[in-house]
Order: sequence, then structure tokens, then C-alpha cells
Amino acid sequence: MKILVLHGPNLNLLGEREPEVYGTTTLAQLNARLRAHARRKKIALKIFQSNSEGRLIDLIHAHRKWADGLVFNPCAYTHYSYALRDAVAGAQLPTIEVHLSNIKKREPFRRISVIAPVCLRQISGKGVRGYLEAIDRLSA
Ligand code: DQA
Repeated sequence: MKILVLHGPNLNLLGEREPEVYGTTTLAQLNARLRAHARRKKIALKIFQSNSEGRLIDLIHAHRKWADGLVFNPCAYTHYSYALRDAVAGAQLPTIEVHLSNIKKREPFRRISVIAPVCLRQISGKGVRGYLEAIDRLSA
């Protein structure tokens, strides 16, 4: 089992970015937890973060044959990027959309995901656990 994990824009600042919303865990700490979890389950992980929409699209394209599944936090792109939605749909990878915060309980613009319709499911508001759950669901 091989899983691609993609983190979208501003998550490079996780831990210092709006900690009251996203917590104090850094991206390096989050990724270390994902890697440890995957190792225990004998899952190969590749993890990338990018602030750029085009780079995220290129990463999906480049790994579409390598990966068996995609765990994707598209961050703000969630709410308006039809280009990322098309990339997910075109890659034909089982995909779980993950958000650290509960996007349903925040500003109205965050309640909409244009990407969720091409994903198996959306996990939102569970923090780091949401990513672990996504890995578990894809590998089940
Ligand atoms: C986020 C929620 C998005 O609305 C926001 O733009 C982010 C992070 C989350 O993980 O909660 O950057 O995807």
C-alpha cells in the first residue's frame, strides 16, 4: 500500500499559524506522526507541502501511478480550486480530503468544498487524528 499525502498552502507555518484554530503541532511533528503510523502499518508514504496550486497539481499527476490513495488537505484551495478538483478526478486515486479545523463551523466561505464531490469522504475538525483516520480508511 502506497499513500501520497499532500498539504496545501500555509501549512508550512503550522504550529505558529493561528494556533487557536490549528493548534501548536508543527508540520514536521505532524509528518513524523504520519510516518510512524504508516511504518507500523507497513504503508509507504510520500508527503509534500506546497503553497502553489500548480505544484500540487503536478504532484498529483506525477504520483498518480505510484500511489494507491491520496490524503489531501487542499487548505484554502478547497473552497474554489476547480483545477485541483479536476486533477483529483483525473488521477482516479481514492482520495480523502482532510481538514484540521472543522470547516463546517467556520466562516460561510469555508463550508463549501469544490473538491469533496470527487473524494471518497471528507474528514474535518479532528486535527492530526483526521490524517491518521484517512490513512486507516484508505488502507482498509
Ligand atoms: C484547512 C481549512 C481551510 O479553510 C484553510 O484555508 C486552511 C486549513 C484546515 O486544515 O482546517 O488553510 O484546510
